[in-house]
Amino acid sequence: MEAVTAIPEPLRPVIEPREIDFILEDLGIEVGGTRTLHDPGQPGAAAAIVALVDPGQGAAPRSLEALLDTASAHLSESGALILFLEGRHREEQLAQWRNGLWPLLHANVIYQVERDRVMRRTLSGLVELDPGKRKVHKVRTGSVILLRRRVHAMGPDATIEKFDQNAAGWNGNPDAPSYPHFRWMRRFVACFSDLPRGGRMLDFGCGAGWCGIEAARRFGASELAFFDPSPEMVKIAEQNALSEGIRSATGRTGFGEKPPFPAAGEEAFDAVISSGVISFSPDTTVWIDGLVPTVRPGGTLVIGDIQRTSRGMQRRRREKALLPAREMNAQTADEVRQLLEAEGFSYQDGAGYQLTRPFPEAMHVNEAKLKGLLTYPLLWSNQLSAATNRRLGIPGNDQFDSWVMSFKRPN
Ligand SMILES: C[S@@+](CC[C@H](N)C(=O)[O-])C[C@H]1O[C@@H](n2cnc3c(N)ncnc32)[C@H](O)[C@@H]1O
Repeated sequence: MEAVTAIPEPLRPVIEPREIDFILEDLGIEVGGTRTLHDPGQPGAAAAIVALVDPGQGAAPRSLEALLDTASAHLSESGALILFLEGRHREEQLAQWRNGLWPLLHANVIYQVERDRVMRRTLSGLVELDPGKRKVHKVRTGSVILLRRRVHAMGPDATIEKFDQNAAGWNGNPDAPSYPHFRWMRRFVACFSDLPRGGRMLDFGCGAGWCGIEAARRFGASELAFFDPSPEMVKIAEQNALSEGIRSATGRTGFGEKPPFPAAGEEAFDAVISSGVISFSPDTTVWIDGLVPTVRPGGTLVIGDIQRTSRGMQRRRREKALLPAREMNAQTADEVRQLLEAEGFSYQDGAGYQLTRPFPEAMHVNEAKLKGLLTYPLLWSNQLSAATNRRLGIPGNDQFDSWVMSFKRPN
């Protein structure tokens, strides 16, 4: 009840859960388990809290503070904060709320409510809710942002489900115009591995396995181990290793926070490669604690991920109301370097790769409209700029959507 007096002005008007029962139903949330911001119930117990924001309000800091305090105290682990922004809002305004509530909460669904229709928007697209199912109340026009605790949205179950469902998509489509780019990126990351011939290699969060496979082939690894939380991804990585002629390949399932390699009695690896994985971990420190012992003393670590501070990603953060959690969660290369140096690793080499805006957009047009006409010019620009960034620092790091670095673990 304390929250009643704690809610500052912009959040004073109340919305009752039954006013948006058609949305709650769509989400599978009981109206009865839903509280309002003014009466959030027992700490840690609310399945959902509905909050109304006045028309015209931006993401006012005091409102954000009140929302964060109440959500933090009262939402259950999997609970949702349902923010109703009355009136019409631009993408940038919705993005402002999303950014303000991160990192406690992550927005993954937005509903656009008009008098006669409700559209549900997720990263997979836009769907109109079945009007037949909707109970008719006096519905206000507005945008509804659904937010869940980041730790829940990025939790193990969500990760496994996401990658199991789209495992084939992460394997790339050899017939797609973007495939040469997809394969080049893995080869580029792999070339940082510096594995002594006949050394043992681990792909940490392997996905379809291409980074580890490229590295194992290039450096003549005697053994390739790989793991991923998604059993489907591990299966695909096994098939890919086999079809690429890698005989001593072993796949396991598991998370980087508690990796399945090396198991008791097994040795740490000469080289470990982890590409595009760290941003999926809700707790980077625990993930790094899992990573460090997989590299043998004197061994090489190659780590890469998306670049949160690239020009294109910064713009996406300002302008897009929905973004993948990993894009919000990503660490910069400098942040990861500091974490690894604190563990005694010494930096060896690094580069930005994958030119930022407008290159991803151009690749999309190339794929969707130009039937691959620009595939090679775009690929060559990417290859050339990654090489000059690596050697000369030109173009600068903010011109790339991804980074890769290599480190040595001290003896
Ligand atoms: C973007 S894909 C990258 C796959 C591959 N490394 C590559 O570069 O093609 C991210 C992969 O990380 C895995 N992953 C997500 N969270 C993880 C975690 N906490 N530990 C290890 N792997 C994780 C996912 O299942 C997924 O296969």
